Amino acid sequence: MASSAIIPAHTKAVIFDAYGTLFDVHSAVGRHMAEIGLEAARFSEIWRVKQLEYSWVLSLAGRYEPFWPLTEKALDYALARFPDIDRAIKPALLEAYRSLDAYPEVHASLDALRQRGLRTGILSNGDPDMLNAAVSSADLAGSLDAVLSVDAAKVFKTHPRAYGIVLSVLSVAADEVLFVSSNRWDIAGASAFGFRPVWVNRLGLPDEYAELAPCAVISSLEDLLRN
Ligand code: LAC
Repeated sequence: MASSAIIPAHTKAVIFDAYGTLFDVHSAVGRHMAEIGLEAARFSEIWRVKQLEYSWVLSLAGRYEPFWPLTEKALDYALARFPDIDRAIKPALLEAYRSLDAYPEVHASLDALRQRGLRTGILSNGDPDMLNAAVSSADLAGSLDAVLSVDAAKVFKTHPRAYGIVLSVLSVAADEVLFVSSNRWDIAGASAFGFRPVWVNRLGLPDEYAELAPCAVISSLEDLLRN
């Protein structure tokens, strides 16, 4: 099996987080900067943080609701925090979230991994419908062997049952999976589960979760194949 400095020779699949790793979650607000104004970056950050908070709180409470309604509820909260932003923009922001921009290197990086004989896939909190919309909109379906949603386990990452979907669907062992995410908390969960985690730190953020460390830190998916 082809390998690189980051990808061990026994690797069978490279699995990616979706939102924040393959898709730019801030590209939804980015398409409506004129209507949203100077608070756009903080507004988008609160939308994202609340979306994730809802997934963690429900999971810890033993509850589940698909990621799309959580995404909508998080947007409602963000709009309530910014009363100067016209709520009439909500449908356009939700539509944009179903067709987020993929980062520029994603398509070529996925294809290059497959050309080396590696299977590629997504494991995401996103429910199947929103994931399929995003993958289709970014024209990535032909570059992915699997698009997996935690919805099958009815629990969000970082619960082990969520990561376990990869093992059962792809018939691989945890140490045969390279798991790539931009979310450091997701890397912590993947490390605890036994994947080989690679953190995509595009923004040069400070590290955390020291006890659950990535095997490598990269700034672009192109770095996965560098020797
Ligand atoms: C996902 C979000 C949590 O795609 O980034 O799972």
